[in-house]
Amino acid sequence: SVDKENMITCTAPVNIAVIKYWGKRNEDLILPINSSLSVTLHQDQLKTTTTVATSRSFQEDRIWLNGKEEDISHPRLQSCLREIRRLARKRRNNAGPGFDATALSHKVHICSINNFPTAAGLASSAAGFACLVYTLARVFGVEGELSGIARQGSGSACRSMYGGFVQWIMGQQEDGKDSLAQQVEPESHWPELRILVLVASAERKPVGSTSGMQTSVQTSSLLKHRAESVVPGRMVEMTEAVRRKDFAAFAELTMKDSNQFHATCLDTYPPIFYLNNVSHRIISMVHRYNRHYGETRVAYTFDAGPNAVIFTLQQHIPEFVQMVQYFFPPEINGGQFIKGLSVDQAPLS
Ligand code: PMV
Repeated sequence: SVDKENMITCTAPVNIAVIKYWGKRNEDLILPINSSLSVTLHQDQLKTTTTVATSRSFQEDRIWLNGKEEDISHPRLQSCLREIRRLARKRRNNAGPGFDATALSHKVHICSINNFPTAAGLASSAAGFACLVYTLARVFGVEGELSGIARQGSGSACRSMYGGFVQWIMGQQEDGKDSLAQQVEPESHWPELRILVLVASAERKPVGSTSGMQTSVQTSSLLKHRAESVVPGRMVEMTEAVRRKDFAAFAELTMKDSNQFHATCLDTYPPIFYLNNVSHRIISMVHRYNRHYGETRVAYTFDAGPNAVIFTLQQHIPEFVQMVQYFFPPEINGGQFIKGLSVDQAPLS
């Protein structure tokens, strides 16, 4: 039996990195080797919905992902649960009698659903852990800075704790207390910006980000160069491009950073291939499109999978979508398109 007051449902959207996070300096605390910057999608697009219930009758903490029960002892899940309960105890001890601490004495049942393919390089863990941490915080009455806890679930999750344009500052401290997400600009800042997802494959990725990053940190000298000498400058330039709403600068940095991330994957030994033929054709198509107009109107970026995330401005959407449909006709490739920020039904690849 679940007490209605002790059940809360929240949603959290996916975020798409335009300056990529790849590589940890501390595996347990999830501290990155470089800062990163992302755009959080709207709540009604790619998102996770999580319900957390507490009840006196629950015997143990349990979790279901997309309807299937998963192992609650997963270390990163445990980190999030432990940290939220720690904050809740702190709050209870400081708050005195007014604070309802019933939830603290109960076990939780967590139910989480993605409205997009899990682990296909579409940042499912980012939305998932952000949503988990936020919902748990609500259930336990915890407020304030939560991105440091979401980070311990999945690094990129800390950026989904905020909307709009968000940076994850790598921080300097060994305890990770300064490795937090921060909003650069709210989503209202750049209303013309649009995001489309072109699904090249909805399969699970062959190399997960955790093991991929480990191998890259151990073997890629390009990754070291990138983290130390390239990303710091790009963070400054990207923040500026966003502030100025300079699409060409934003787009060029986004594409270069995606390309360098995938170059570090190739530089990893043994190499990691996240892009497929369709991804490569999308990259060529975008460059040809931009060259045709003599200006950068469209940008692509790819995470740990072959699916393209496209950035463009509202005015270019109809033409660009038409071109994608021309080059990737649905009946030939039989793929599937997931909703873009402004397009419901669209092209396939
Ligand atoms: O947070 P993780 O472990 O899922 O890693 C995400 C890594 C990339 O998506 C490839 C880049 C990023 O910054 O989101």
